[in-house]
Amino acid sequence: MALNLIMLGPPGAGKGTQAERFAKKRGIPKISTGDMLRESVKAGTEIGLRAKAIMERGELVNDEVMIGIVKERLARADAQDGFILDGFPRTVAQAKALDTLMDGRPAIVVIDITVPEAELVRRLSSRMVCEECGLNAEGVELAQMSTTACKRCGGRLKQRSDDTADVVRERLKVYKRDTQPLVDFYRDRSTFRQVFGAQPPDRVEKELDHAVKHATKTEGGRR
Ligand code: AP5
Ligand code: MG
Repeated sequence: MALNLIMLGPPGAGKGTQAERFAKKRGIPKISTGDMLRESVKAGTEIGLRAKAIMERGELVNDEVMIGIVKERLARADAQDGFILDGFPRTVAQAKALDTLMDGRPAIVVIDITVPEAELVRRLSSRMVCEECGLNAEGVELAQMSTTACKRCGGRLKQRSDDTADVVRERLKVYKRDTQPLVDFYRDRSTFRQVFGAQPPDRVEKELDHAVKHATKTEGGRR
């Protein structure tokens, strides 16, 4: 049966890291709205031009635009046998819209990755990504930034433009105000699970696999 999975969690929780691993294993697409917006910024599309300043302030792009982007993406052929959403939904309005889009598909499995705030700040202040393809450079120290190339495409590494201290503070504030309420929105569903993310990535991956297995077993079609 198609697996429709959502990764919830604050900035730096490891949504992207875990979604990437899971998508590879299951052969389903990882749909990251943050990555899609960054690609639009790079390509200079109309949405990208509008999103750039919003993202650099750590605020959210408006619901209507985001719902439109995701609706179109989920309609594509490769998403019919399942998908992993990373970074969407991020507001209750987006979550309600997603429920409507899921009509007729298997119930979404929601994994909330929890990590203490101090660890989030530590991760984001030291994260490096590829300038070309956006891949996270796992396990590279800041001091090695100029001498290390991206593992996937050989591109140069840089800090993400929204990982500065001020913007991280704003992103965490926006998360608490707009996205954390989704935990209550989903908590009572039989397919909601929480995974503790402040553990080594392999450990988180194992717990996540287990949580998804358990959630799909007990699902029974209830939303
Ligand atoms: P987005 O790109 O989604 O950013 P985010 O939610 O702030 O999350 P991050 O990508 O920073 O963190 P992550 O949880 O993916 O962690 P990662 O795996 O990278 O969104 C960016 C912006 O786009 C938003 O601010 C908003 O403006 C806009 N946007 C996107 N979607 C939107 C929507 N639906 N609505 C409106 N606006 C939207 O890990 C972080 C670091 O930690 C990495 O360096 C990684 O290597 C490391 N790490 C990961 N796991 C571990 C571990 N277990 N132990 C130690 N280190 C780890
Ligand atoms: Mg991410």
